[in-house]
Amino acid sequence: MHCRLIGIPLQDGASRLGCEMGPSALRVADLAGALEGLGHEVTDIGNVTIGELPDVRHPNPAVRNLPQIAAWTKLLTEVAYREAGKGMPIFMGGDHALSAGTVAGVARHAAEQGRPLFVLWLDAHTDFHTLDSTASGNLHGLPAAYYTGQPGFEGYLPPLSHAVDPANLCMIGIRSVDPAERETIKRNSVTVHDMRSIDEHGVAVLLRRFIDEVEAANGMLHVSLDVDFLDPSIAPAVGTTVPGGATFREAHLVMEMLHDSGLVTSLDLVELNPFLDERGRTATLLVDLTASLMGRTVLDRPTRSY
Ligand code: ARG
Ligand code: MN
Ligand code: MN
Ligand code: MN
Repeated sequence: MHCRLIGIPLQDGASRLGCEMGPSALRVADLAGALEGLGHEVTDIGNVTIGELPDVRHPNPAVRNLPQIAAWTKLLTEVAYREAGKGMPIFMGGDHALSAGTVAGVARHAAEQGRPLFVLWLDAHTDFHTLDSTASGNLHGLPAAYYTGQPGFEGYLPPLSHAVDPANLCMIGIRSVDPAERETIKRNSVTVHDMRSIDEHGVAVLLRRFIDEVEAANGMLHVSLDVDFLDPSIAPAVGTTVPGGATFREAHLVMEMLHDSGLVTSLDLVELNPFLDERGRTATLLVDLTASLMGRTVLDRPTRSY
């Protein structure tokens, strides 16, 4: 596989500063080396950055940094579309607002391939606010609503050329949903597996169901991994920790099953805030999880044969 590393030093969508250092921490933790060690070709295209800001304002006074997020979304849609045509893009964030653009861009690429895009959202949060419904005003709480084409973004964020069908979106690890998000999610047919569901069924059963769906549809699969999907005890470097997250073993199993599926075509690594890390352990964990996703196994065979 030809992995394309793209650094996205975006922090304007989060309430706490520090995510702009995320790409650097992933480089220091040697993401490229881990992938090369698995036999992949790796090109790090460096960091991308926005230019001039558009003059946009929204009537919701809570909304923060809209011109910045509008500019990032436009840029990242183009970058993701272009990079998806060259190999497997790995978007090194940066806060989760970046997924508005990365998913929009890979959705356009998938449409041109004549294949539906599926999204696996690994997160404590659904990130399904609109500009009208957000109370915190932190725009990392909106990307899933944007790329599934919910109303209310017109005139504020760039128009979507290809929306993701909400029925193709599966969220796992969810344990913090605001009331307004709950309403929008219910109206759409998003699959949401909360932590209770993981406890009750095991993550493998839930993920297998989704993988089978993607496979049956000959879909492309974008994985968006928010650090707060993981339990804060193993991944402290994130501004929005929520207790009761995925364990080390659950997270690795998810990655290993995804690898075995052969379906993953793009990846976001988001919300890493190195300022909050402990001796780089969260960055290192993200590198190890990505390595599992890209083929690292305990034995030199897939362990799926049960
Ligand atoms: N729902 C909360 C909000 O809108 C939290 C969002 C957290 N999102 C994230 N990508 N960490 O403020
Ligand atoms: Mn998120
Ligand atoms: Mn989150
Ligand atoms: Mn592993």
